[in-house]
Order: sequence, then C-alpha cells, then structure tokens
Amino acid sequence: MTTKNWTSGGVCVLGAKGMLGQELMLVLQDRLSSGGKLFGFDLPELDICDGTAVRRVLEDHQAGVVINAAAYTDVDGCETNQALAQDVNGKAPEVVAEACAEVGAKMVHFSTDFVFDGRGRRPYLPDDQANPLSVYGQTKWAGEKAVRSAGGQSLVVRTSWLFGLQGRNFVEAILAKAEAGQPLSVVDDQIGAPTLASDLAEAVIRLLDTSAEGTVHFTNSGACSWYDFACEIVANADLDAAISRTTSEAFARPAHRPAYSVLDTSRYTELTNHTPQPWRDALRRYMDARLTPSRTVESGNEGVTGSSER
Ligand SMILES: NC(=O)c1ccc[n+]([C@@H]2O[C@H](COP(=O)([O-])OP(=O)(O)OC[C@H]3O[C@@H](n4cnc5c(N)ncnc54)[C@H](OP(=O)(O)O)[C@@H]3O)[C@@H](O)[C@H]2O)c1
Repeated sequence: MTTKNWTSGGVCVLGAKGMLGQELMLVLQDRLSSGGKLFGFDLPELDICDGTAVRRVLEDHQAGVVINAAAYTDVDGCETNQALAQDVNGKAPEVVAEACAEVGAKMVHFSTDFVFDGRGRRPYLPDDQANPLSVYGQTKWAGEKAVRSAGGQSLVVRTSWLFGLQGRNFVEAILAKAEAGQPLSVVDDQIGAPTLASDLAEAVIRLLDTSAEGTVHFTNSGACSWYDFACEIVANADLDAAISRTTSEAFARPAHRPAYSVLDTSRYTELTNHTPQPWRDALRRYMDARLTPSRTVESGNEGVTGSSER
C-alpha cells in the first residue's frame, strides 16, 4: 500500500481508551473529518486476544488500517501476572496481525525501549540487538516479532516514557506528591527520553502518510534521568519541592529496567522529514494544556526539517 489513500478506508484503533489510544482517536478524528471512518475499541467490548472477534470487527468495519495501542503496560504487574502479559503483549499482536493480513489491512503496532538491556552507549537503532530484562520487555519483544512475521503489511513503532493528558503518568504522580508536600526521591541512574503521547499520535499520522513498514523509533528528542525529569516537572509547575536522588538498587522494583534506553529516531526523520520536538518543550506544552478547559496539547510542528537533531 502506498498509504497516500489510507484515509479513504476504515481505520480501527485497538486500546482506544488508553493513554495513547485516546490521543490517536483525537488526531485521527481531525485527519479523517472529510472522508474515512474511524472506529475505536477497547475492553470490554473487544478483547484483542479473541481472534474470531477481532477478525469480525475488522471485516465489519472494512478496516484498511488497524492501530494496536492495546497492551498490558503495568511493568511491575507483568512480573506477577506473566500469563496475562504473555497473552496480551506477546500473543494478541499475532492474532491481530493475522487478522489484518487476512482482510488486507495495514497494522501499526507499538513497542518499547524496554526491549533493550540498557548496556548500550549510544541511542538504540531499530535493528540493534534486543535483550529485554523484564517480563514486560520480553512479552513486548515477542509481540513485535509476531507482527513482523505474520505476512501482512505492518509497522512497529517503538517509543519510551510516555506521558499524556488522557492517562495516569509520571508527570501527574510527581505533581500530586509535590503538591501534597510529600518527600520526593527519584532514581537518577536510568536514562531515557520522555515522550508526549499526542506527539507520538501525530508521528503515527506522518508515518501512515508514507509507505513505511518495518520498525521505527519515535520519542521526543533529548534524554534525561527520571530525577532530571522530575526536577523539570516541579520547576514548570513553580512548586517549591525538594527532590532527592536515589538509585535503582536502593529503590528496588519487581521488574528490572534498562539503565540507558534512549532510542535513535533518525529513521523516523528520514521517512517523514520531521524532527521530534525536545522533551522539555513537550513537557511545557503538556503543562499548559492540563490547565486549559479543552485539555488538548498544541502540536510542535515547527520541527519540520530535513535532518535529525541527533
Ligand atoms: N506508557 C509508556 O510509558 C509506554 C512506553 C513505551 C511503549 N509503550 C507502548 O505504547 C502502547 C500504548 O501504551 P499506553 O501507555 O497508552 O497504555 P495504556 O494507557 O495502559 O492503554 C492500554 C489500553 O489497552 C487496553 N487493553 C488491555 N488489554 C486489552 C485486551 N486484551 N484487549 C483490548 N484492550 C486491552 C487497556 O484497557 P484496561 O485499562 O481496561 O486494561 C487500555 O485501555 C503500548 O503498546 C505500550 O506497550 C508505552
């Protein structure tokens, strides 16, 4: 498919009530306003593990594009609920990809920086060796491999450290603690790229406008530790909260996380001619938007350029 005409058929978003799913629904509503039809599904009306139900939905809605934002995203929960993680993150993407191949729809699927082990010293390229440290990472890696080998047209978009207006996220967790005057202690030895969910949703539209297939990385540009991110959140909110640094060892969690999981987004820029906005700008736009009645984030389109920032 050259996806120039992708807006003329049915577009189905799975996981449409999640943080990213809701942003996708918003940007797609705008984009499809003059033609194609948009359909969003989530639990309980559609379980992506149910292949028969998925196939029926795609047929009924004449899907030309299926965007799978459904996942089991509780990284620590995946360690204890391994069967659920395997079903939703590992096996269901294959079920969806096979249904897409049968009906001739292109599938867009999301994966994570947590497929890497974090021992790298430069941003990870899409083809770099995966070596997940957690059940979440392992099951997401299994899911993306299944999508790529299902035989249909597919695009896997890896991203990291998502925050968005439509879901629980790190920014709101830090603000809630800071506003309540609670002590804040944040890990300073995990480096990644915070990514605004609405910027990712717009990136997906740009990618659909190309004939991109395979694996692409999209994050906001720049990198920081969770401690740096927390400091920037508190500064943006003009809160006078003291934040102390801690380590992954001192703040032990059930799931191991990579120490360094910055993703190289140059393939995204080559495909779309767009450079991701810096994460600090994305955070500022988020902070402005969370206080406005419409609660939608202004896009940062001034980043259109021919080259990557990295
Ligand atoms: N959040 C991050 O920091 C991050 C980072 C890197 C990559 N990603 C990836 O980005 C994608 C979107 O993440 P997100 O943060 O938007 O996730 P999210 O907010 O947790 O949304 C996931 C949605 O999928 C639904 N869902 C779960 N199991 C399902 C099933 N069996 N059938 C149908 N729907 C199901 C969830 O419903 P319930 O809420 O009812 O379970 C939820 O509405 C995922 O692929 C995730 O792995 C996320």
